[in-house]
Parts: sequence; structure tokens; C-alpha cells
Amino acid sequence: MMINYNHTVVVFLLLSLGIFKLGSCSENNVTVKCIKSEREALVRFKEGVSVNDIPGKLSSWVGEDCCQWKGVECDNESGHVTKLNLSNPAGRPRHFDYYESNQNRACDACSDPCASSSPYSKGRECSKSSRSLLGDVNSSSSEDANASLSGEITRYLGNLSSLTHLDLGGNYNLSTKNLDWVSSLSSLKYLYMGGVKINHTKADWLYAINMLPSLLELSLYSCELKHLPSSLTFLNFTSLHVLDLSYNPFNTSIPKWLFSLTSLTNLDLTSSNQGGIILDSFGSLRSLKYLYLGVNRFYGSIPASIGNLSSLKELDLSYNKMNGTIPESLGQLSKLVKLFLLENSWDGVITEAQLMNLRSLEEFMLTTNKSQSLIFNVTRDWRPPFKLKSLHLESCRIIGPTFPVWLQVQSELTYVTLTNVGIEGTISEEWLSTISSQLTHLDLSNNQIKGNLPHQLVFPNVTKLFLQNNSFSGPIPSNISDLMPSLQHLDLSENLLYGKIPLSITKIKNLTILVLRRNNLSGELPPHWNSSQMSLHVVDISYNNICGKIPSSMGFLGNLSILVLSNNNLSGEIPSSLQNCSVVSMDFGGNRLSGNLPSWIESDIFMLRLRSNLFSGIIPRKWCSLYKLRILDLAHNNLFGGIPDCFNNFTAMVDHNTFGYKSIENYTEKANIVTKGREYEYDHNLQLVIYIDLSGNSLTGGIPIQITSLTRLGTLNLSMNHLNGSIPKNIGNMRWLETLDLSNNRLFGPILESMSSLTSLSHLNLSFNNLTGRIPSGNQLQTLDDVTIYKGNPLLCGSPLPTKCLGDETSDGPSSTSVDDKQGGDNYERIWFYASIGLGFVVGFWSVCGTLLLKKSWRHCYFRFCDDIKDRIALLIALRVVHLKRKFGLDKN
Ligand SMILES: *[C@@H]1O[C@H](CO)[C@@H](O)[C@H](O)[C@H]1NC(C)=O
Ligand SMILES: *[C@@H]1O[C@H](CO)[C@@H](O)[C@H](O)[C@H]1NC(C)=O
Ligand SMILES: *[C@@H]1O[C@H](CO)[C@@H](O)[C@H](O)[C@H]1NC(C)=O
Ligand SMILES: *[C@@H]1O[C@H](CO)[C@@H](O)[C@H](O)[C@H]1NC(C)=O
Ligand SMILES: *[C@@H]1O[C@H](CO)[C@@H](O)[C@H](O)[C@H]1NC(C)=O
Ligand SMILES: *[C@@H]1O[C@H](CO)[C@@H](O)[C@H](O)[C@H]1NC(C)=O
Ligand SMILES: *[C@@H]1O[C@H](CO)[C@@H](O)[C@H](O)[C@H]1NC(C)=O
Ligand SMILES: *[C@@H]1O[C@H](CO)[C@@H](O)[C@H](O)[C@H]1NC(C)=O
Ligand SMILES: *[C@@H]1O[C@H](CO)[C@@H](O)[C@H](O)[C@H]1NC(C)=O
Repeated sequence: MMINYNHTVVVFLLLSLGIFKLGSCSENNVTVKCIKSEREALVRFKEGVSVNDIPGKLSSWVGEDCCQWKGVECDNESGHVTKLNLSNPAGRPRHFDYYESNQNRACDACSDPCASSSPYSKGRECSKSSRSLLGDVNSSSSEDANASLSGEITRYLGNLSSLTHLDLGGNYNLSTKNLDWVSSLSSLKYLYMGGVKINHTKADWLYAINMLPSLLELSLYSCELKHLPSSLTFLNFTSLHVLDLSYNPFNTSIPKWLFSLTSLTNLDLTSSNQGGIILDSFGSLRSLKYLYLGVNRFYGSIPASIGNLSSLKELDLSYNKMNGTIPESLGQLSKLVKLFLLENSWDGVITEAQLMNLRSLEEFMLTTNKSQSLIFNVTRDWRPPFKLKSLHLESCRIIGPTFPVWLQVQSELTYVTLTNVGIEGTISEEWLSTISSQLTHLDLSNNQIKGNLPHQLVFPNVTKLFLQNNSFSGPIPSNISDLMPSLQHLDLSENLLYGKIPLSITKIKNLTILVLRRNNLSGELPPHWNSSQMSLHVVDISYNNICGKIPSSMGFLGNLSILVLSNNNLSGEIPSSLQNCSVVSMDFGGNRLSGNLPSWIESDIFMLRLRSNLFSGIIPRKWCSLYKLRILDLAHNNLFGGIPDCFNNFTAMVDHNTFGYKSIENYTEKANIVTKGREYEYDHNLQLVIYIDLSGNSLTGGIPIQITSLTRLGTLNLSMNHLNGSIPKNIGNMRWLETLDLSNNRLFGPILESMSSLTSLSHLNLSFNNLTGRIPSGNQLQTLDDVTIYKGNPLLCGSPLPTKCLGDETSDGPSSTSVDDKQGGDNYERIWFYASIGLGFVVGFWSVCGTLLLKKSWRHCYFRFCDDIKDRIALLIALRVVHLKRKFGLDKN
């Protein structure tokens, strides 16, 4: 790129100058001293900023001769400062880097360009705070980033009147009140201020720039610029070659004057809030070599005028709203090397016309979020003029036969993603064998590819192999560790593979993620895992036919954090050696595992899914310390004993934000969750699930009140146990509860009115208990009018059951409401009022205070009620009592 090229030139200049100076020094020690006023300007600048560095950039700024200072260069003869370079190279975003980092994250939800760790997150307007951005930068190259400047640029810098080159780029904590000081730098050719916050009002920043007629390169990415003036009466900087205004939240669209900059070779408007169809005008910038328009709101088709840009080398239109076609004139761009058209809604047909003369094309990336609406329909035997190195096509349709010739002749590919492109039939072994030695990444997922996996081809450099969701059959090659020794990420899930899991899989040293989910694999798990596979983080072998025990050697996998073995035929106990792993998610559901529950589980776990096994014994009290737990599924086992009364310790179920879930190990885990009476497969939504299912065991005792403090719980299923006692009084606290199933237990007492405050509830089952009294009807409960919710409770009455409550047939009078000690505050309120209003003040007084005096349990209830109920009612009662006391002269006493 231009910018880098110029850096090389600068470095070269610096070196040659240095040599020259050494030479002159040895002769007579007299070198050019800098000009006093310019030294002063630099000193003032230094005062305004501070450096975070230890080695020091500005710490060398001592002594008289400022030309000797780090980052400063002077003219040999005049002594004027000509160059000032205090950039932070680590802060400079490099185009297309986003693509690589995006591909490292095997996640399904990568399309939001502003999601924290996604493609374009280097821009400041994406990651609102510049600090977190700097954090990113820091992590990429801590040494350089440490040398970043912070503070404010003073206007004195404008006194360096001979400056041709000013580079302050990548200093995200640097700011300037305005750019007025720049306007006096009339010799300036190169101005790089990316990352520096420019506090501007309206268009003043551009008017300052317009005073620089010699300007060749201008880089103002991530400067928080908002105003982009639509007109300039006179355009001074017409020789501009490089213009980078990326990552600025402009509130106006691309101005007309931009298209008069006909010398532009490099234009970057990535993520600058641009839209419209104005795209046509870019055809007039005929010198363009690099055109980056990603992450904006452009829509429509690529205009045919794109064919005019005959020098174009790189074009990025990714992450826009392009909903039209790709013109045939694109096929004329014979110098085009990189074509990035990711994440748009492309339409139409691509034939050889669009690809005809793309002789230089090496990287071609196109994905569409309007599935299959873009079709590659290339003549059967057409051979393209390009040899691609990287190819990513996703969600468009590639017309066959099976694997078209134009793809098969691509013999230099190292990176291939052809996902959801409708490839059917078998894959060409000939093509694979041509590229197998150089391939690093092969993703053919979500097609209908048949046939065996290649058993002879060696892929020495493949680190990622994604073949999931196809129709591959046959066994996994038994010598896979020889064929693909560099594998890091292997996903063969959702195919028709059968046979054993090869033992050699445990010999792939750098394997990090292994996904064999949903195949027909059988036999036992490889028995000899070993500590040389320390990189293994994720193992998902669920939904196969694996039998035998979980090998205790898996305990050697010290970094194993996600272990999914659900829905197999595994038996025996969970080996306690697994406590040596760092498991955060354990899914062993749907097997025949037995023995006690693993009480040794560590507190980092967020998902513990052991449902549908043969586990027995009690729920270990030690689990009370699992404060990160979000999903606890022990349903359908032989557990007995009580539910521990410490579930309030599951902090992550109380405050969802306490432990912000990140996609763990760059991997989107899948799990089947039974909720709202049905089973759903969750993937990236799994992070939102907060869940307890203890159903189908033999648990006894009451429902511990602590469970009601789990205010973020979405599903609570305790059905099909032997639980007795009443429904906990505070159940109404669980505001996020969507599914509540307490059916088939021995619960008794009333259904509390407070249950109607469960406003999220959409699935309720209380059937087959011994609940009594009237079914409450407020709020959400009104919508849950299915009779089956309550059936099997002979003493329940009222709507939606056909059984009328005792009083309902005769009158609505107060006496008909059956009252027992266990009823909640709401009923007391009603009684109190009935009594005081219906029977007059005297009787009213005695029916409350008298009863409270006489009956201890009622007194307790009354005072608890006073605690619980809202202030308004308490006040009302207090006033009422005072009033009564007055009436009877009791206040005199
Ligand atoms: C001559 O230059 C050397 C190296 O730059 C410096 O150490 C020395 O002090 C100078 N001598 C005088 C007399 O300036
Ligand atoms: C930016 O400029 C405006 C107007 O000149 C001023 O009110 C505001 O305080 C400035 N903000 C910063 C962060 O300097
Ligand atoms: C263009 O540059 C000249 C000289 O630098 C300056 O006098 C003039 O005001 C500039 N024009 C505009 C519109 O800024
Ligand atoms: C493309 O999107 C724009 C803006 O949303 C809309 O006006 C236009 O009709 C769309 N064109 C097509 C072909 O869908
Ligand atoms: C592909 O092109 C051929 C000939 O150009 C045409 O007959 C065929 O219908 C096209 N197929 C699709 C799916 O557009
Ligand atoms: C593949 O890896 C080998 C070493 O394993 C290396 O020598 C070779 O250059 C690589 N091939 C390519 C095309 O990168
Ligand atoms: C495993 O990773 C290490 C570190 O990245 C690398 O040096 C080594 O070559 C890799 N081994 C294989 C077999 O790819
Ligand atoms: C609750 O968790 C903490 C640690 O998070 C633990 O120390 C405490 O013992 C737990 N409470 C119970 C009742 O186990
Ligand atoms: C996750 O991805 C990042 C970059 O995208 C990479 O640096 C990191 O090593 C990955 N982590 C794992 C466990 O693969």
C-alpha cells in the first residue's frame, strides 16, 4: 500500500541522513542546530502531551539541538524541522486484517461489524470508547503501543513552517481542539493523524486542510469527525493521492468535491456512515488503485462505471446493503488483486463476463445474506485467467456439474471456503490432490457433498478443516494424524460417518477444537489421551453411538474446557480425573452413566448437563460454590434426598451480567435444552439460557425458599419428584421465569396470588399435586387458561377449572373464602377490609387487633405482611388503626 511504501522511503531517508551526519561529525563536530523558535514549538508540544513509554520517545527531547531528537528531522541547510514522526505503528489498522481474525472465530454470529471482536472493530465509532480500542491495540503489539502519546496537541506545532511530513497516527489518546494550526504548515505533503480526536465544529477541519496545496497524503481515520462539508468553493489540495477518512461517524454523505480529486490512488471510507447510490461517481476517479468502502450503507448494484477504474488493485464493498447485481464491466479490471464483497444481499447471475479479464485476481471473497439469490452460472468448460490463492464464497449458488471446471483449475489455492453454495455429489479428488500440499484452510460446510473422506491425500499445512453438514460417509481416516498433522480445528459434524474414532486423533499435537457431533460413529472413545495434547479445548462427540466408559486419560487434557458427549451409549462413572481439566461446560446427557454426581466439579463451570442418565445419590452440597453456573440439568436420573438450600449461591442466575458470557474458546457450543415443554437446539443463544431442571428424580422435602432469589432464572422444572410442602411464598420474585413446572409432586396449600407477578411466564404446569383453594387470576395467569395446568389437584377450584369454589354458587360474600394459616398477605388484606367495612368499626377493630392478639400464627402472618406489602397499603392501614383508636379513645390510654 502507498502508506507503507512511503514509510520505507522515510526509513531509507533517515538511514542515509544518519550516515551523512556521522561523516560530517567526525570532521568538525559542527552540525546544523535547529531553529530556536521551532525548538520552542516542540517544547510546547511536549508539555501538552505525556508518553506512556518507559524506553521513551520524548525523553530524548533534551538538549539544545532539536534536530537530534527522536522523531525529528531537519533540513540540512536551513535547519528547519521538516519531519516529525511520533506515530504509534501498532495503532494503525491494516486493511483486510479483519478477515483473518474473523475466520479464527468459529462462530455463527459474525456479521455484526460492531460486535466487540468482529472484523472492523478497530474503528472508534464501533467500539465507543477509545480506551477499549487502545486495549485491543495494546494486546497486538504491547511494546509499540506502550509508546503512544496522550494529551492535547498545542497550536504551537503550527510554527514548524517548513514541515513536509507530520505523522501522529495511531495515538488514540491524543486530541486537538481543532486543526487551525495545521493551516500554517503550507509545505505539508504528508499528514497522518489517524486515531487523534479532533474536536471540530462544523467543517473547520477541512478548511484548514484546504490551505495545504502540496498535500499528497491525508490520513484521518478514527478522528471522531462528524462534519464532511458538501461543498468547497475552491479545491486547493488537488494533488492528493491518498485519502483515508475511515472510521469516522460522518453525518453527511460523500460530497461532490471528492470526485474532483482525480489524482487519488488510495481512498478509504471504511465505516464512515456513508450511503446512497452515489457509487456511480467513483468511476471518475480513474487513478484509483485501492478503494475501500466497507461497512457503510451503500445499496443497489455495483455501477457499470466500475469498469473505468482500470488501475484498481483492491476493492472492498463488504458489509454494505448492496441488493443489486455485479456488472459485467467488473470483468475488465485486469489489475484487480483483491475483491472483497462480503455480507451484502447480492442478486443476479455471475457468468464468465464478470470474471473474464481478472488476470491478477488472487483473493475473491463474496458472501450474501440473501441466500442463493446470487448464481454463479459459468459455461461448463470455461477456464478463467486467474489463479486464486484465497476463495470465499458463501450462500450463493454455484451451478454444477458437481464441481465446476472454473474452480477445479484453481491450482494455487491455499484458503478455500465454499459454504452453503449448493455443491452436490462427490468432490474432485484430482483438484484436492493438486492443492493438498499447500492448503491451510478448507471449509466445504453446508453443502450436499457425498463420498468418503480422502484417505490417501496428505494435507501437511491444513490447520482448519470444516466439512460439517454434508453427506460424507465412511470412516474417518485411521491415519488422520499423518494426513493432517497441523490440524487445529476439525469439524466433521452432521455427516453420515461411521466406524470408530481413530486412535490417531489423539496424536494431533495442535488440535484445539474437535467436533464430530451427529454422525454414526461407534466403538469406544480413544483410550489414550495424553498431556501432549494440551491445546485441546473443545471436544464434541455428541449424537453418535459411542459406548464404553469415558477414559480417565481425558484428565490429561489440562486445557479441556468444553466436553460434549451427550446422546451416546456411554456407561460407567464419570472419571474423577476430569477434575484436572478446566471444564467450564460438561454435557453428558442421554447416556447410561451411573454412580454419584461428581462433587469435585470446579466453580468455573457454567453448564452442567447430566440429564437422562442413571446417576444416583444426592445433589452434592459442594455444588453450592458453583457461582458461575447458568445451566443445571439433572433431569431423569435416580437422584434422591433434598434440594440443597443454597441455590441462592448461584450468583450467575441472579445477575445475568455478573459473568458476561463470551464465546468460549472461539467456539459456539450447541446444546439441546428442554424448555416451554419442548426440546430446542441452542447455539449462540445458549449464552442467554439460565436454567434448572431437576425433573424425573426421586427428590424429597420442600422447595427451598432460596431458589426464589434466582431472579434471572428462565426455566425451573422440578416435576416428577416427591417434593412436598407448599409453593414458596416469594415465587413472584422470579420475574424472568418463562417456564415453571412443578407437576407430579406432593405439593399442598394454595396457589399464591404472588404467582401472578411472574410476568414472563408462558409455560406453567402445576398438575397432579395436592394444591387447594381458588386459582388466582391476575396478570399473566389470566393468559394461562389451559385446564391441564391444574388438573389432578382435586381441591383446586375456580377458573379455568370447571369446579366452582365453595362460595361462588351462593354469593360473592367474604365468608365463602376459605382461609387457612398459610394464606398470603393478599387474602388478609381482603379480609381486613371486608371486616372493617362490612361489620363497622367496632367489630372491625376487634376482628383485626383481637385476632392478632389471640392467635399467634395470625400475628406472625400479619407482621410479615406488613413487611412485605407496599408502603401505600401500610400507610392506609396505619391511618385506619389510628382512626379507630381515636374513635375509641385508646390513644389517651
Ligand atoms: C562532538 O560530538 C560528540 C558526539 O556527537 C560529542 O560526544 C562531543 O561532546 C562533541 N564535542 C563537542 C566539543 O561538541
Ligand atoms: C469541543 O469544542 C466545543 C466547542 O468549541 C467545546 O464546548 C467542548 O468543550 C470541546 N470539547 C473538548 C473535549 O475539548
Ligand atoms: C487555497 O490556498 C491558498 C494558498 O495556500 C489560500 O490563500 C486560499 O485561501 C486557499 N483557498 C481556500 C478556499 O482555502
Ligand atoms: C435496494 O434497497 C433500496 C433501499 O433499501 C430500495 O429502495 C431498493 O428498492 C432495493 N432494490 C432492490 C432491487 O431490491
Ligand atoms: C445457466 O446458463 C445457461 C446458458 O447460459 C442457461 O441455459 C441456464 O438456464 C442457466 N441456469 C440458471 C440456473 O440460470
Ligand atoms: C507446507 O508445509 C511445509 C512444511 O510442513 C512447507 O515446507 C511448505 O512450504 C508448505 N507449503 C506451502 C505451500 O505453504
Ligand atoms: C504446533 O504449533 C506450534 C506453535 O504454533 C508450531 O511451532 C508447531 O509447528 C505446530 N505443530 C504442528 C505439527 O503443526
Ligand atoms: C456459597 O459460595 C461461597 C463461595 O462462592 C462459599 O464459600 C459458600 O460456602 C457457599 N455457600 C454454601 C451454603 O455452600
Ligand atoms: C481465538 O481467536 C483469537 C484470534 O481471533 C486467537 O488469537 C486465539 O488464539 C483463539 N483462541 C483459541 C483458544 O483458539
